[in-house]
Amino acid sequence: MPVSLSGRSFLKILDFTPDEIRYLISLGHEFKRMKMAGTPHRYLEGKNIVLLFEKTSTRTRCSFEVAAMDLGMGVTYLDPAGSQMGSKESIADTARVLGRMYDGIEYRGFGQDIVEELAANAGVPVWNGLTTEFHPTQMIADMMTIEEKFPTGLSGLKLVFMGDAQNNVANSLMVVCAKLGMHFVACGPKKQMPSPDLVETCREIAAQTGGSIELSNDPLTACKDAQVIYTDVWVSMGEPDELWAERIELLKPFQVREELFAVAADSAIFMHCLPAFHDTKTTVGKRVAEKFGLTELEVTDETFESARSVVFDEAENRMHSIKAIIYATLK
Ligand code: CP
Ligand code: NVA
Repeated sequence: MPVSLSGRSFLKILDFTPDEIRYLISLGHEFKRMKMAGTPHRYLEGKNIVLLFEKTSTRTRCSFEVAAMDLGMGVTYLDPAGSQMGSKESIADTARVLGRMYDGIEYRGFGQDIVEELAANAGVPVWNGLTTEFHPTQMIADMMTIEEKFPTGLSGLKLVFMGDAQNNVANSLMVVCAKLGMHFVACGPKKQMPSPDLVETCREIAAQTGGSIELSNDPLTACKDAQVIYTDVWVSMGEPDELWAERIELLKPFQVREELFAVAADSAIFMHCLPAFHDTKTTVGKRVAEKFGLTELEVTDETFESARSVVFDEAENRMHSIKAIIYATLK
């Protein structure tokens, strides 16, 4: 049966079958080809979407806006202070109002329960643009990017997530790898490992797809023969600044550096959802350097700038993949 996601929300990768995920990835490649060729694709003219951001963003916001404009749609952006949601109006009431005006709603913010509640009440598709627990749109872009570098297919590839292995990006990578028959390793300190429940769920999925899920506290063993080494910030949005001292202490041994690529596959690539702290050219980077004496955090500048680094392909693919998600759910 052909895949149809029409009318569906996109809240977490767990909600989708391997075929549905593969369909979104290939649709992302298709939209990228159209964009590169200059082929117009204003397939959703007359429709409108709203973007609700309770946390900051560069890639996700711009991807939704450009994708919507390329598809011929209207788009409204509401910043963290720009709506009544939460303070003067409940999530459910906000969803019911926006669902009367818009054809789709993007939400970036805090608990996964919020985006689930929006979707339960909106009557139109809701897309998760990042919650504390998951970052599912990032996964379609990441899998597109890996496929560009390994065109023989995703199944069987080994992806190691280094660092804060319990955050939204790590959780989502573990799920998508399990769904697509990949070998996922969460490598970090014991305190920052994914929840046992999610690990068990992913192991059950992986048992069906030929993938595997491993937990490790040893970077050199974890990265052996890996095709992908992935990392993310050590303190995520919404977490208190006071965590920096503890996280630096815990996560320093899990910094991604050239030494890890010496044991990885020859063709191995470096990935990061961005933004990244690889130098001191940001206010946070500068402050951390002054306070803790570390000028590079989750990844060294050498690896970030190396030929193996595909982080800007990954960032570009956010737009093509988000266009695929909007189109597939609204067409
Ligand atoms: N990767 C990502 O979601 O980036 P933004 O926070 O800039 O949207
Ligand atoms: N884990 C990061 C991802 C940013 C795209 C955060 O939540 O801040």
